[in-house]
Amino acid sequence: MSRAQTDNRQTDYNQLEAIEKASLEELRSLQLQRMRKTLEHAYNNSPFYKAQFDEAGVHPRDLESLSDLAKFPFTTKSDLRDNYPFGMFATPMEDIVRIHASSGTTGKPTVVGYTQNDIDTWADVVARSIRAAGGRSKDMVHVAYGYGLFTGGLGAHYGAERLGCTVIPMSGGQTEKQVQLIKDFNPDIIMVTPSYMLNLADEMERQGLDPKQLNLRVGIFGAEPWTGSMRENLEQRLGIDALDIYGLSEVMGPGVAMECLETKDGPTIWEDHFYPEIIDPETGEVLPDGEEGELVFTSLTKEALPIIRYRTRDLTRLLPGTARTMRRMDKITGRSDDMLIIRGVNVFPTQIEEQILTVANLSPHYVLEVSREGNLDTMQVDVESQQLLNEQDSATAAKELQQRIKTMVGVSTKIKILPPEALPRSEGKAKRVIDKR
Ligand code: DLL
Repeated sequence: MSRAQTDNRQTDYNQLEAIEKASLEELRSLQLQRMRKTLEHAYNNSPFYKAQFDEAGVHPRDLESLSDLAKFPFTTKSDLRDNYPFGMFATPMEDIVRIHASSGTTGKPTVVGYTQNDIDTWADVVARSIRAAGGRSKDMVHVAYGYGLFTGGLGAHYGAERLGCTVIPMSGGQTEKQVQLIKDFNPDIIMVTPSYMLNLADEMERQGLDPKQLNLRVGIFGAEPWTGSMRENLEQRLGIDALDIYGLSEVMGPGVAMECLETKDGPTIWEDHFYPEIIDPETGEVLPDGEEGELVFTSLTKEALPIIRYRTRDLTRLLPGTARTMRRMDKITGRSDDMLIIRGVNVFPTQIEEQILTVANLSPHYVLEVSREGNLDTMQVDVESQQLLNEQDSATAAKELQQRIKTMVGVSTKIKILPPEALPRSEGKAKRVIDKR
């Protein structure tokens, strides 16, 4: 049992913000009021949204109930790109105090801006997130999300400070030094991508350090998809509680949703600031809670960059609240952009990860190579073994993985077992797919 399971486990309701304890009715009424205000703000101050709404023949006053949001047009990543860099901002530049950008794989980055109030809201939701993970002001928080244009580092930083924690602004990279500092400072909480956490855990072992002997109690992992099996793997290896934090720069950054320690059942969406919908990615139709589709967000309090019905491309479903009244999202299956179609079967890297982690001797370090043979797409799974394997053990592991993937995911794959440390390591978001088509 990890330390977090012996203390801080129960929700201390006195610590929660009033809205975290509000009834659904109170929450919905606040959302409606804030949604109206946001639509008006966007319409009146962003030429982009004025044009969008006019073209769709809708006006902010058409919103009478929350479900009327479906009348309004979507915003996509290409809208942000087309208005690069600052064309979507709804406040004068002099009121913008911070810019972030997400690199994206192709073309121009997506640029986002924040007013001082936006930065404060963001710090509040990240502080709330760390608290939901069992964090308290006495805790020391090691931040290994990248600092800079990426929202991970600074977003986590301001939230941890807002909660009153001691923050170590390490950023990503310098793996050896990270581990040295973790050893010397002995933080209680680490905030990092799950793939970089694996990398750090390997380095701890290399330095002869048993991660279970550290004070580390909680890992706040996000910025990339990761599975329940990866959670078990990280928790066992590190002796911590591993919790999922979700967010995206277009909507704010980390802290749009956070898993609660006491239930560990998918991130609670901070619905007082971010209104979620699930849509059918093909038709755009809103789906009922519980059905899987594309996650869409409307900001409810943002000033600099109000965002209306932003299509995240993340696939998940909305679930009823448990630890809080606010709804949860299921763990992200993947991004629609990351979906591979192998001989007609849709495959996400997370599905392969889930299988890899069930096979003895295999490590969670993997990449998927997709190529084309004739008219057919084929997939090779390159995965490292935990220790150097002899030929026979390697063949056994490969065969078992291949069969599991065939049975559980439904695709035929080639498996290549690599020795430990053969694959490049992530210092932030892992790249799981090499597309050779
Ligand atoms: O990744 C913000 C963030 C930083 C979240 C640190 C959590 C921790 P972007 O770079 O704009 O922002 O990328 C956003 O990353 O649309 C998802 O596809 C993916 N993502 C973020 N969190 C999770 C998560 C940050 N917990 C994109 N699970 C999102 C799965 C995630 N995918």
